[in-house]
Amino acid sequence: MQCTRKVTDGIYWVGANDRRLAKFENMFPIPRGVSYNSYVILDGKTALMDTADSSVAERFMENVAAVLDGRALDYLVVQHMEPDHCANIAAIIEKYPDVTVVGNAKTMQMIGQFYSGTKAKHTLLVKEGDKLPLGEHELTFVTAPMVHWPEVMVSYESKEKILFSADAFGTFGALNGALFDDEIFFDAIWMEDARRYYTNIVGKYGPQVQALLKKAAGIEIDMICPLHGPVWRSDLDLLLEKYDQWSRYEAEEDGVLLVYGSMYGNTENAVEVLAAEMVEQGMKNIKVYDASVTDCSYLIAEAFRYSRILVAAPTYNAGLFAPVEHFLNDMKALNLQNKKIALVENGSWAPMAGKHMKAIVETMKNMEIVEPVLTLKSAIQPAQTEDVKKLVEELLK
Ligand code: FEO
Repeated sequence: MQCTRKVTDGIYWVGANDRRLAKFENMFPIPRGVSYNSYVILDGKTALMDTADSSVAERFMENVAAVLDGRALDYLVVQHMEPDHCANIAAIIEKYPDVTVVGNAKTMQMIGQFYSGTKAKHTLLVKEGDKLPLGEHELTFVTAPMVHWPEVMVSYESKEKILFSADAFGTFGALNGALFDDEIFFDAIWMEDARRYYTNIVGKYGPQVQALLKKAAGIEIDMICPLHGPVWRSDLDLLLEKYDQWSRYEAEEDGVLLVYGSMYGNTENAVEVLAAEMVEQGMKNIKVYDASVTDCSYLIAEAFRYSRILVAAPTYNAGLFAPVEHFLNDMKALNLQNKKIALVENGSWAPMAGKHMKAIVETMKNMEIVEPVLTLKSAIQPAQTEDVKKLVEELLK
């Protein structure tokens, strides 16, 4: 049976949830699953806003047919060409052969790249500001390049004041029967996944998200319908403010994130000593993670969240312990900036980790490195107690 939700009188959610996928994009663990949102607008004309992932094709197609209830599908609006949203374009064209596929020049190019055998009878090429009247409802297309791919556009529906926002304002997490932000405990249960989704998927593109937020500030929005996670109709400011903060790379909290690699527990022990010293010096907001144990996507979300970071790593093959190197490179790739960071290296005969960590951090924007790097020779020594105090003092200053 279909499983759909009414968004407004003429608009329906026809998406589906996926709790089988272990890793989103085959990279990011999603223990709470994910939703692939898609929406049907019923008016004089009918429109489908994006499709869904191939894994939920059967459920999605059934949902679309149920909402159309025998009507033809006039338009398929393709806002984003990542396959978690466009995998059913061919199936839609096959089932509704008279549908007009709506997209911009880059969208059409990508349809050809991904699905070379897919040929729509009708296409409508749109650009920034173009309008698509459906009857009482009318869509206006707004380009949002690199949020999260270059072809991305969002669509504003003027009758209901709805922003169909593509990947923007999305989050990991299956919907579990809910659809709207006022049907869930977002702060308590969803915020961590929203942060992890934003920082890992869109985090690199802060300036582009800022550009989209500026465009959105100029229009009246009552509801945001993203491609993942809940529809926003009650507390839009909550997420808009978070997006603003994240995309400006501004820490949400004054606190310390400690991330370490440790082969036999000696670097870990040093981090425990450092964390205890931080508490002694008055810091209450501390998170400690083993980079070999915790998936990097969680570390990235925490790195965006906190103002101060301490990274500790053994030297390995005269280089850097790989899980820590992955974390630092990922921070750099995602454009993380505006942090104070302390570094701790370990090396039993030729400590080199500090040099490699600094080489990465120094190429990042507005990262204040606490000097000097604390060097351990195999294990932290009682004689280093004063060095530990000083490092912590400097980091917390
Ligand atoms: Fe949910 Fe960029 O795709």
